[in-house]
Amino acid sequence: MPTLNVNGRVLSHDAEPETPLLWVLREQLGLTGTKYGCGVAQCGACTVHIDGVAMRSCVRPVSTIGSDDKITTIEGLAGPQGQVHPLQAAWVELDVPQCGFCQSGMLMAAAALLKANARPSESEIRDSITNICRCGTYNRVQAAIQLVAKR
Ligand code: FES
Ligand code: FES
Repeated sequence: MPTLNVNGRVLSHDAEPETPLLWVLREQLGLTGTKYGCGVAQCGACTVHIDGVAMRSCVRPVSTIGSDDKITTIEGLAGPQGQVHPLQAAWVELDVPQCGFCQSGMLMAAAALLKANARPSESEIRDSITNICRCGTYNRVQAAIQLVAKR
């Protein structure tokens, strides 16, 4: 059975090779924090990290991911259970979410950005976070990322 390295655990699945990673995460591995929005790589709701880089899991066939590639989902963003990622703390502090549906993807995109660029400018944040939020939380997302970058 093929395996995936997700949040530090090696997990087996029996999905067809062309199945998007999103559905393997949600339906086979029970990691439902990663959301389905558009299915065509536009909205970013399905964003996860592969080896620290943000990618849209709705269009990534599971067979293209090697067993050594490290996948991180929102469930593993903070590390071991009980920890809170600095971005999650800022999200709470600034009351970022509204309905919440897009927010795991937003957080994953923001975390990948800060990993690559610890002090992004406003325009760098805007250019990098292309996720869509139907509730229009963009200004609070921007503020929370800047809060973490300042700390
Ligand atoms: S669900 Fe993947 S980008 Fe919208
Ligand atoms: S918080 Fe509702 S879609 Fe973003």
